[in-house]
Amino acid sequence: MTLAYPTASNVAHPAHLSPGYRSSIKRAPSRPLIPMRHTLSELTGPVYGHEAVRENDNDLTTQHKGEPLGERIIVHGHVLDEDGRGVPNTLLEIWQANACGRYIHVRDQHPAPLDPNFTGAGRAQSDSEGYYKFVTVKPGAYPWANGRNTWRPSHVHFSLMGPAFATRLVTQMYFPGDPLLEYDPMYTSIPNERARQRLVSTFDWETTVPEQALGYKFDIVLRGRDETPFESDTKLPR
Ligand SMILES: [Fe+2]
Repeated sequence: MTLAYPTASNVAHPAHLSPGYRSSIKRAPSRPLIPMRHTLSELTGPVYGHEAVRENDNDLTTQHKGEPLGERIIVHGHVLDEDGRGVPNTLLEIWQANACGRYIHVRDQHPAPLDPNFTGAGRAQSDSEGYYKFVTVKPGAYPWANGRNTWRPSHVHFSLMGPAFATRLVTQMYFPGDPLLEYDPMYTSIPNERARQRLVSTFDWETTVPEQALGYKFDIVLRGRDETPFESDTKLPR
């Protein structure tokens, strides 16, 4: 991987101000950004300990006494650098709504049921070749306060942690064929159609387990012309 940041990555990112995404109106900076040198501590830590990731942390369906309700799925993929090489030992964390579209969060009070057998958070580490895997349930769509009758498409939030805190990247994975995608201002705020498509997982028959789970593949490209769009700090995930 080259040390210079490839400007080709920029086409993947949404603009800070995307008026259709209401929260961005107040979050977007009104003045030009000021470059700030990273401090030594930002570049060197904190570094998570590999031993902190336990073997079953990537299975969100076995965290409670019973199994969660919903459509069981396997989400897997390859963490790649700009040259298509796998990136090993990357900490991946996911969080998501339950099958009914409800988060366990004090601010999520919309009238959909919580599932006592589903927390909605998991983590994994990419292997020596950069591959990762999660077992979970397909999240439901949910309404959000962006205007009248606005709904988020089904999605899984992803965080990828590099070797230091300053190298954390956050994004969302969507599902193929979701009719809500074209109405979602977070998704449509990404100007480049090819970049948008990189946020949509593909149905993966090879990973489907008979009578158990459907498979979805979601590769994540960390930077370069094929970069996966990431959320900037002015577009915090919801
Ligand atoms: Fe969400």
